[in-house]
Amino acid sequence: MSDSNRKILVTSALPYANGSIHLGHLLEHIQTDIWTRFQKLRGHECYSVCADDAHGTPVMLKAQELGITPEEMVARTQAEHSQDLQDFGIVYDNYHNTHSDENKALCEMVYLRAKERGYITQRTISQLFDPDKNMFLPDRFVKGTCPKCKSEDQNGDSCDNCGATYSPTELINPKSVVSGAEPILKDSEHYFFDLPKFESSLQEWLTSSSVQPEIANKLQEWFEQGLQQWDISRDAPYFGFEIPDAPNKYFYVWVDAPVGYMASFKHFCEKNGVDFDSFWQADSDAEVYHFIGKDITYFHCLFWPAMLEGAGLRKPTGVNVHGFVTVNGAKMSKSKGTFIKARTYLEHLNPELLRYFFASKLSDGVTDIDLNFEDFVQKVNSDLVGKVVNIASRCAGFISKRFEGKLSANVAEPELLQSFIDESENIAEAFEKRQYSKAIREIMTLADKANQYIDAQAPWVTIKEEDKQQHTHDVCSLGINMFKILMTYLKPVLPELAVKAEGFLNTELNWSNVASPLKEHDINKFKALMQRVDFKAVEAMIDASKEDLQATANKLDPNSPLAKDPIAETIQFDDFAKVDLRVARINKAEHVEGADKLLRFELDLGGETRQVFAGIKSAYQPEDLIGKHTVMVANLAPRKMRFGMSEGMVLAAGPGGKDLWILEPHDGAQPGMKVK
Ligand code: 2FM
Ligand code: ZN
Repeated sequence: MSDSNRKILVTSALPYANGSIHLGHLLEHIQTDIWTRFQKLRGHECYSVCADDAHGTPVMLKAQELGITPEEMVARTQAEHSQDLQDFGIVYDNYHNTHSDENKALCEMVYLRAKERGYITQRTISQLFDPDKNMFLPDRFVKGTCPKCKSEDQNGDSCDNCGATYSPTELINPKSVVSGAEPILKDSEHYFFDLPKFESSLQEWLTSSSVQPEIANKLQEWFEQGLQQWDISRDAPYFGFEIPDAPNKYFYVWVDAPVGYMASFKHFCEKNGVDFDSFWQADSDAEVYHFIGKDITYFHCLFWPAMLEGAGLRKPTGVNVHGFVTVNGAKMSKSKGTFIKARTYLEHLNPELLRYFFASKLSDGVTDIDLNFEDFVQKVNSDLVGKVVNIASRCAGFISKRFEGKLSANVAEPELLQSFIDESENIAEAFEKRQYSKAIREIMTLADKANQYIDAQAPWVTIKEEDKQQHTHDVCSLGINMFKILMTYLKPVLPELAVKAEGFLNTELNWSNVASPLKEHDINKFKALMQRVDFKAVEAMIDASKEDLQATANKLDPNSPLAKDPIAETIQFDDFAKVDLRVARINKAEHVEGADKLLRFELDLGGETRQVFAGIKSAYQPEDLIGKHTVMVANLAPRKMRFGMSEGMVLAAGPGGKDLWILEPHDGAQPGMKVK
């Protein structure tokens, strides 16, 4: 197939429908999005799809915990995930979920074809079962004492203390994480996919497809250990698809998740008249690439190609594996505030900056990517604001004010411009090979060159010289044309900045236009294209992530009042008993001259009157409160305030401002009654 006529399908791993998108996900989705945008910009027929990974025990249990159906949870999470991704400029042609009709039909097709060809077997196995919850327990839902080092509270499959791996049945004193009950062993019939039958074709696929050398090596270890029969069924209760002709048996989530790539694409094809089969049939000439993290290599490079072959379909052209994200040199940590959710980032920082930073670090390897925040702030300010945008801002003013907003007909230094154009294929090759850091380095070298040229020409000096007007016009026009080329190269990385640049340049940025400079072309007035980032914004984001943690610890929505204002340290009953809370009637309420926040109250305690000042002026008109019953701390030591003595405290709830509410006891509560 000629290079100009490529048909490409790209996917990112499907995020689970029981948690939020965080920095770790974003690395992958940004990597995928840059690649997809690049292919589209080069004029190829390229589609990208993703979906929420809806099935499995964790999703089912989380929905139960929230008291909603799994379908409802998936719908909510899918909406949240697609919004988060969209706000990072990550565009999928379709974002679906795996609990879909298309996926059910495709899973059944893949399974039944494998069955027909003799790749499915059945046998009875014994597994841990929770007798209280009436369910089989996946390994991570069993905890107990490590059989090797005897350390307590270890996971069902491995010990964090000594690193031993074992089967959950070997744990001493096992407990179900779901109910706390002691699991029992129970037999059940399971369905297996005959992976060993695919050994030689998988080996062949690995040599013919684009899988990174580190990954191919890792896979050899698995071949050496010998491929195993793969258990593809789970017993009810399970949120998933029932296996045809196997009542109460469900496809394991890792069966329907990769089929979900196809299902999301199918949903897209049906709506848009694209030929789905031409992408998936055995002799397809389309390219299919999966972008994934290194932890799920096994599923994508062994099970998935084998399943596809078992169903008589094509295998992926490539599986592009990336490493994990570390923050400031360490694993993302909830307590350090470096486990940062997409939404928390968006509340503090410009998403394009993260896209740029990740691009400047990403290669085609599987090493981890470190997001060092000092490096981040320094790099985005220096490269984007200090170099790229600076080129336009140094030249644009003269063009608008002195040359009627029109670029010159001449190219001041054709060789310089040509050197920018000549990099086009190098940079394209780097993007194509996912060597984004190399592409960014080359682009920044050009940006330095453009700035050096402008420094040397000093248009701010020549503009004042009568006989240098044309020269100044040519220099600034060349500056703008160099900016145009740089922004074209950066368009897959910085789509929003590219849109703003297109508005300013009054033209669409396209790879095919790189070699055509704008001459005698009207540009628009230059507006600041990007702001410098302040380290304080990063600090605020880290603090907010710590608050997210508090919310999670309390199993709360981060918007819950408890998330913002966590419950104080525990006190003893004796401490509480010292506080004398009483019902009081508001006899008088009035503004206090010179006080911004306070109201003055006269409170009737049923025989005694107290003067109390309370900071609730923002929420109430005093006249509305007169005659109401409320609750006060009656034994608080009197406090001398600027406006008089305050002899107690009125209780109110709320975040502040208009949102403050005094406590109002129900009818029947009389002034002076004790609140217990
Ligand atoms: O590891 C994960 O987050 C999985 N939800 C990825 C699934 S990718 C694909 F196979 F669907
Ligand atoms: Zn151990």
